[in-house]
Amino acid sequence: MATKLHGGFFHSTLRKLQEQNVQIHPHNLMYPLFLVENDDAVQPIPSMPRISRLGINEAKKHLEPLVADGLESILLFGVIETLPKDSNGSSADSKENPVIRALPKLREWFPNLLIACDVCLCPYTDHGHCGIMNETGIDNEASIRRLADISISYALAGAHIVAPSDMMDNRIGAIKQALISHGLEKKVSLLSYAVKFASSFYGPFRDAAKSAPSFGDRRCYQLPSGSKGLAARAAQRDVEEGADMLMVKPGLPYLDIVRQTKDMFPNFPLFVYHVSGEYAMLHHAAANGALNFEAALKEVLTSMRRAGADCIITYYTPQILALIKAKS
Ligand code: PBG
Ligand code: ZN
Repeated sequence: MATKLHGGFFHSTLRKLQEQNVQIHPHNLMYPLFLVENDDAVQPIPSMPRISRLGINEAKKHLEPLVADGLESILLFGVIETLPKDSNGSSADSKENPVIRALPKLREWFPNLLIACDVCLCPYTDHGHCGIMNETGIDNEASIRRLADISISYALAGAHIVAPSDMMDNRIGAIKQALISHGLEKKVSLLSYAVKFASSFYGPFRDAAKSAPSFGDRRCYQLPSGSKGLAARAAQRDVEEGADMLMVKPGLPYLDIVRQTKDMFPNFPLFVYHVSGEYAMLHHAAANGALNFEAALKEVLTSMRRAGADCIITYYTPQILALIKAKS
């Protein structure tokens, strides 16, 4: 008799009882924003329909209704056009950096909003790689020192969360140490992009952030897509080095890794990045009539929650907040 299943879910309330820990509340969402130097800019990103890079004044206008709809957290990316790109990624934490300039304002305008900053060098280096290079390739030591400095600058400017996406070895330890020596470890969370795969799904983002490498690729620091063991070791290492929270990225093609990471570290909040290519894929499929946008989006989010994600970083956050609001 245990083989008869339909009796368990013929009513919509019964169906809800069958779905455990997969609901989406506003705190399960983090919204990425691209900030540019010109405070009044709105720059549509062709590869990411309906997403624009924004100057801080436009970001304010964009965020106000979302915060009113329940938005609880954002993830900031800086994009530069006139500031210099150099071998050291100097513009990552210069006074004119759009993220550094935006942080105090955002804290003032949206006092309850949780603000995370992506920490990386690729938008700011002349070569577009995520670390400092020497003659032979990545200089890991120099890279993690620089990433720690940048993290401190963002923390001092007002970031609640620093989120290094570079994938250099031992940057979590270096950043955690730096936070401690500045007395910031209790006020700033360290969210590690611990399990970040080398992926073709980042294409639109590199357009958006103007961060494509000018030569080579990122396969020597981002994880090979078939690697389960390395994914486990990367998460383990970052936990040992002091990460407060973990991330798996991209999302849909790596849900097995999301589950593996959650099972290994059930006591750490787990983030999943529904990345730019996943965003574009769903947009274009729906726009071309291949699937129903709303239903497909809900199914994607549910699958991520089911796999173990506590928070989903997604460019669809505004649409999801609207859906949550419509339902309540
Ligand atoms: C850069 C970075 C990337 C993303 C976040 N930070 C791309 C990359 O590694 O080239 C991807 C986000 C997305 O695709 O939405 N360190
Ligand atoms: Zn990078």
